Amino acid sequence: MTGPWRIIELPRVNDARGNLTFIEGEAHIPFPIRRVYYLYDVPGGAWRGAHAHRKLEQLIIAASGSFDVVLDNGHETKRFFLNRSYYGLYMPPMTWREIENFSSGSVCLVLASLPYDESDYIRDRGQFLAETGGATGAVMGEGGR
Ligand code: TYD
Repeated sequence: MTGPWRIIELPRVNDARGNLTFIEGEAHIPFPIRRVYYLYDVPGGAWRGAHAHRKLEQLIIAASGSFDVVLDNGHETKRFFLNRSYYGLYMPPMTWREIENFSSGSVCLVLASLPYDESDYIRDRGQFLAETGGATGAVMGEGGR
């Protein structure tokens, strides 16, 4: 199942000893989990992403700290501030995404529907706009890293 980007509230088990959140593929999120990766030790001022995927579905979580995720489907752009480990941001295929404003020590956890495959990436913004029929401008600092 795909669909528009959206925030998914994940289950929480609150406990005086510490809180717990769990995620089951195809139950709490729309896809089976085939890969997990995470960004950490991100230096101040850095930004990541600036690409889209043709088939991949992903859920992005601020497992620790906070950051902004800017999403764009070629027609519409939206910025999400993630700072709670029980919210996941679902990204369907053909979503251009950029991540910035990482807080110190933050961890950006990503659940993905497929194994890593470079041929699934669209890294060229002009190509992305051609494939989406879109015309949105650069989300941020295009070519600036
Ligand atoms: P990339 O997805 O391009 O991240 P960013 O756009 O934030 O820089 O990944 C960076 C590098 O890591 C790239 O060379 C591919 C590699 N990589 C893997 O080998 N496996 C993975 O699952 C991911 C996400 C990246």
